[in-house]
Amino acid sequence: MYKILRKEVLSPTLKLFEIEAPKVAKKCQAGQFIILRIDEKGERIPLTIADFDREKGTITLIFAEVGKSTQQLGQMEAGNSLLDFIGPLGRPSEIEKYGRVVCIGAGVGIAPVFPITRALKEAGNEVIGIAGARTKELLFWLDEFKAQCDEFHICTDDGSLGEKGFVSDVLKKIIDEKGKIDYIIAIGPIPAMKAVCALTKPLGIKTFVSMNSIMVDGTGMCGACRVTVGNETKFTCVDGPEFDGHLVDFDEAMRRGEQFKDEEQRALAAGSCGGGCGCH
Ligand code: FES
Repeated sequence: MYKILRKEVLSPTLKLFEIEAPKVAKKCQAGQFIILRIDEKGERIPLTIADFDREKGTITLIFAEVGKSTQQLGQMEAGNSLLDFIGPLGRPSEIEKYGRVVCIGAGVGIAPVFPITRALKEAGNEVIGIAGARTKELLFWLDEFKAQCDEFHICTDDGSLGEKGFVSDVLKKIIDEKGKIDYIIAIGPIPAMKAVCALTKPLGIKTFVSMNSIMVDGTGMCGACRVTVGNETKFTCVDGPEFDGHLVDFDEAMRRGEQFKDEEQRALAAGSCGGGCGCH
């Protein structure tokens, strides 16, 4: 059993759990994910690692309650335990000394981009961070994120905190001002990552994105996380979660997401889910 040591409510639908999982904490690297199960009947929930502490033996997860399983998870409290906690899974982020890098976290994507930002900083890069969300209530970990950056920007769609606009708008200003950017990692909703890549592709700025949000069972079995990268079909949970954003077919990924959304609504309304529908 894996004990929840700490729970924090970051916003009404955004929760943080710090979980005792020393073996995972010992081995994990930035960009990887875990799969958990609440109990015997529970579905597998893949979540990207937001932070880890090798000495304490803990893993920090941040998740949005977007479906039945994550809502159930959100009801758990510190002191409760999870049945399964498997990981680390997925390929770690490519951490190198690129030079000047921009790390973009949009919405709940701020969580997985945090350890990558820290690793890029530790590798000797000049790090510019951008945190964005629809509104200020959906932003979190701003001080923690900022502490890993040489320069830090905040934006919200409604202008309630930081600059008014999207993360891609802020990125455009940074590119106009700085000229040379060597590497970008962007994690967030698919439209946000698509907008970032549309901006950087013609400029030839190497840009990686994480497709973690489309994973369902995280095992390579359900096929829900298929994504076309270049001319190849890849599985996010096995081949990713990060891919070269200039090669990802975002429109196809969005269409698939829409498909699952209908099923998710039905599962929530019925109070049950047969699995594989993306309602986690
Ligand atoms: S999440 Fe099911 S195959 Fe990748």
